[in-house]
Amino acid sequence: MNITNDISYVGVHDRDIDLFESQYRVPGGISYNSYVITDDRCAVVDSVDRRFGEDWLANVRKALNGRKPDYLIVQHMEPDHSANVIAFADEYPDSVLVGTAKTFTMISNFFGRDVTGRSLVVKDGDSLSLGKHELKFVTAPMVHWPEVMLTYDSTDRVLFSADAFGRFGDPDRNVPWKDEARRYYIGIVGKYGAQVQTVLKKASALDIEKICPLHGPVLDEDLGYYIGLYDTWSSYRPEDEGVCIAYTSVYGHTAEAAKLLAQMLEKSGVRTAVYDLARSDMSLAVAEAFRYDRLVLATTTYNGDILPFMREFIEHLTERNFRARKVGLIENGSWGPQGVKVMKALLEGAKDLEFCAAEVKILSALSDESRAALEALAEELR
Ligand code: FEO
Repeated sequence: MNITNDISYVGVHDRDIDLFESQYRVPGGISYNSYVITDDRCAVVDSVDRRFGEDWLANVRKALNGRKPDYLIVQHMEPDHSANVIAFADEYPDSVLVGTAKTFTMISNFFGRDVTGRSLVVKDGDSLSLGKHELKFVTAPMVHWPEVMLTYDSTDRVLFSADAFGRFGDPDRNVPWKDEARRYYIGIVGKYGAQVQTVLKKASALDIEKICPLHGPVLDEDLGYYIGLYDTWSSYRPEDEGVCIAYTSVYGHTAEAAKLLAQMLEKSGVRTAVYDLARSDMSLAVAEAFRYDRLVLATTTYNGDILPFMREFIEHLTERNFRARKVGLIENGSWGPQGVKVMKALLEGAKDLEFCAAEVKILSALSDESRAALEALAEELR
C-alpha cells in the first residue's frame, strides 16, 4: 500500500491475538504498522510484533524492490513494535539504527546486544536527510514510554506518530475510529495527558497532511477532528454530556437500582451508558467513564469492603488521573453498607470531583426510601 509516492506501508494485521498487552480485548484484531521511505537513502520506520517477524521482513524486501535499507528508525521500544529490531540489524548488517539515547539502553536490555557503531542517537529537533526527504525527530517521552520519538517528513508532510493516534481494530475492518481510539488512548496512554499535551503543542508547529500511527489506519483527511479529540482526552475534559453508570451486583438488587436510575435519567432526556463491571469489557467501561461528564458508581459491600470489580474499576480511573466530573454514589449492604465510605476513600486523590449530595443506601433490596433517594440522585444528575 502506498501512502505517498515514496512512502509505503509494510505493517501486518494481527487477527488472532486474544489480549493486547495481555489485558485489552481486541475482537477486531490490531495492526502493527511499519513504513518504508524510499529515497537516495532508504529508511524503515519501526518493526512489528515478534510473531510476524518473517512476514514483516518479506514486506520490507518487497517494498525496497532489491535495494538495501540504510536506516531503521526505532520510534518506540515496546515489543509490539521493536521485537524484530535485531532480526533487521542482522539481515541488513550495513544499516544504521536511529533512536533516542533511551532507545539504545532498551535495545541492550531487551536483546543483550550492543549496537554501538551502527547507531545514530538523535535528540529533539534533530534532522536526517534521505536525499529528497528531510526527516525531523520530535521526542515524545511517555507517549507512551520514555524513549518515544515521532518522525516528521517535511517533504511529504507526513507525521509518523508512534502510538499516538492509534486505535484497536484491524485497519481493513470497518471499526469506528473514535470508539476504539478512545478505548486505546484512555487504556494505554491515559495516565500521560500532560505529556500528550506537550507533544500536541510541538506538532501544532508542523504542517501535517497525513498521520501514520503504529496501530490502526493512516489518517489523511480532517486531521483537526482527530487532533481535537486527542486534545480533549489528554486534557481530561469530558467528550460528551451524559451519565456513565458502573455497577457491581451479586444477587441483582444493586443492578436493579443502577438500571432504575438509568431509566429515570433517560426519561428526562439524559444519555446514559450502563456497565456491569463483572461482565463488561473493563477497558470499555473505563473509557466511557472518561467520555461522559457524570459518573455513578453503585456497588455491593463485600467482606467489609466493596466487590473487587468495583475496586479494580476505580483504581483504573485514578491511575489514569480521572478528574473534573460529577460523581454519584450508591451502596448496598444487608447489615453494614460500606460502599460509599470505601469508594470515596479510593477517589480521594482525584482532582476536582463534585460529589452529589444525595447518596443512596440500599439495605439488601430497593425500598420506598431508597427509591426516593435514587430519585433525588437522578434530580442532581439531570
Ligand atoms: Fe503499540 Fe506502546 O506500543
